[in-house]
Amino acid sequence: MNPARGSLLGIEHLDTAEILKILKFARRMNPDKPRPLLKGKRVVLLFYEASTRTRSSFEIAAKVMGAHTVLIQSAGSSIEKGESLLDTGYTLRAVGADIIVIRHPNAGAPLVMAQHIDVPVINAGDGLHEHPSQALLDAYTILRNKKSFKGLQVSIVGDIFHSRVARSACHLLGKFGVKVILCGPPELVPDIAATIAPGVRVTRHLEDALRGTDVIMLLRVQKERLAGMQIDLPDYISRYQMTTARLKMAKKDAIVLHPGPIIRGLELTSEIADGAQTRILDEVHNGVPTRMAILARAVGRMR
Ligand code: NCD
Repeated sequence: MNPARGSLLGIEHLDTAEILKILKFARRMNPDKPRPLLKGKRVVLLFYEASTRTRSSFEIAAKVMGAHTVLIQSAGSSIEKGESLLDTGYTLRAVGADIIVIRHPNAGAPLVMAQHIDVPVINAGDGLHEHPSQALLDAYTILRNKKSFKGLQVSIVGDIFHSRVARSACHLLGKFGVKVILCGPPELVPDIAATIAPGVRVTRHLEDALRGTDVIMLLRVQKERLAGMQIDLPDYISRYQMTTARLKMAKKDAIVLHPGPIIRGLELTSEIADGAQTRILDEVHNGVPTRMAILARAVGRMR
C-alpha cells in the first residue's frame, strides 16, 4: 500500500531534488510573518515519546501557517487504555485531521499509519529508524554556515547506535557526497554503521574524526534506550567529550551541532555548549521554517 500523499516518513527514499526543494522553500518561510498556507487545517501532534524542540516547533510552524493544532500524548489519552496505533489513526481521521505528526518508539509506526490512514503523516522520530525533519533542519543550518555541501566533512560523535538523528543525517549527507565520519566506542558505534549510506566511515579515535572537519555533530548517550548495555561514562567522557582543546583539532571555522537535548558535562562541556562555534540554538530556530516547509508540502502547498 502506498503511503498517503504528502507524507514525510524518512530521508532514505527522498531524492536530492526533493530535499533541495524543501530546503529552498524553508528559506522563504519567516515564522514572524504569518503565511496562511494551512488556513483552517487541523494538524494533530501525536507524541508517544518525550519531546521539547520537535513538538514545539511543529506546533509553532502549524500555527504560524493558520492551522489548528491538537496535541495527543500517550499519558492521558486512549493510548493508555490500550488502543492500537491504527485505531488511534482511524479516530484521528474521523475527527477531521488533515495532517498527523507522529513520534513513536517503534521504527515503522509512521509508515504503517500512512499506509492505512488516508491522511499525510510526518515522522517526528520513530524508534532507532529516522528523524527526517531533524536531518532537514540540520542541512538547512549547515548550508547557512557553509557555502555548499561540496567538499564538506561532517563528523558525528556519540551514541550513533540509538540515534535516528544520525541515521537520517547519514542518508541526507550521503546523497550529496558529503564525507561522514562516525566516532565513538564500539558499543555505541558498531562497525556496520558505515553501511548506512555511501561516504560513511567509522573511527574510534576522536582525533581522527576531528582533524580537518567542517562540521561536528554531537549526540547524547541515550541512557533510556541502553537496555542493560553497560557504558562506562567516565571513560566515555575522557575519550569523546567535546572540549575547547579538542575543538582546536577541527578546522578553524568548524561549527558544532547537536540535536538536543544536550547534557552539559557529558558529551560536551559548558564552554562548548555556549561557545562561539556552536550552532545548537540556531538549529532549534531553523526548525520552525523547515517544519513550515514540511507541513506546506504535506498539503500540496509547497509551491
Ligand atoms: C533527538 C530524538 O528524539 O531523536 N532529539 C530531537 O528530536 N531533537 C535526540 C535525542 O533524544 O537525543
